[in-house]
Amino acid sequence: MLYDQIQESLAYLRTQTDFQPDYGIILGTGLSNLTEHIEIETEIAYKNIPHFPVSTVATHKGKLVFGTFAGQNIVAMAGRFHYYEGYTMKQVTFPVRVMKALGIKQLFISNAAGSTNADIQAGDLVFVRDHINLQPENPLRGVNDERLGPRFPDMLDTYDIKLNKKALEIARTHNIRAHEGVYVGLQGPNLETPAEYEYLHRIGGDIVGMSTVPEVLVARHAGLPVFVVSVVSNQCYPIENIVETTIEDVIEVVEKAAPNMRFILQRIIYNG
Ligand code: HPA
Repeated sequence: MLYDQIQESLAYLRTQTDFQPDYGIILGTGLSNLTEHIEIETEIAYKNIPHFPVSTVATHKGKLVFGTFAGQNIVAMAGRFHYYEGYTMKQVTFPVRVMKALGIKQLFISNAAGSTNADIQAGDLVFVRDHINLQPENPLRGVNDERLGPRFPDMLDTYDIKLNKKALEIARTHNIRAHEGVYVGLQGPNLETPAEYEYLHRIGGDIVGMSTVPEVLVARHAGLPVFVVSVVSNQCYPIENIVETTIEDVIEVVEKAAPNMRFILQRIIYNG
């Protein structure tokens, strides 16, 4: 049972460290270098943690990092799991369950995303204010364990809008290009056709990516407030502007903008 698996993972982690994180951070594609700014207490490879899936993406490091960041106790996932890698949604989101069990009280999620909004350029930050879930399967499907959360979680106040406002203010003060926007989650692994980018724009999407939504659903189910920041790697609207994009292009753009994202996270986490 999921609940027992979470407890077994937790029990293992507690044999490795008694560090108590208050915040969880998920580091997306091209964003794992943030760990260089964590005063590390312990690092634990995913492959050693019972029931953790093992990352198949070479660009993801695959470890839980416990330590202090911006003066707060955090646990960071250096490398996340994607549905397109072949995992089930329950596997993709298992680490969120474990971070909740570790005692975090808020989850910070980062990702790389394409833009379907003409005002949002490559290199910009977007603080997610809502999402549209176009991914197949749902991590909450199946028998609901009330110990983990309610059967029908409400999604009205999913995103921490007050924190978005703070993040936008910090960005403005420091001349960092940033927006609030709607994230559309797709399964990938292919990028979208021009017709699909046009469609995503028309349904109200500002940015599009292949992660995050399942993690947000599970965090919401578990009663964790979430803050999501997307780093835009490629602009795909208007569609005349779309250029061929490789994973190397995505990583290059995201790594360049990563210090901006780190700066904003440091500011908002510092203030608790
Ligand atoms: N589409 C989907 N996911 C992405 C993109 C995109 O254009 N860019 C980065 N992640």
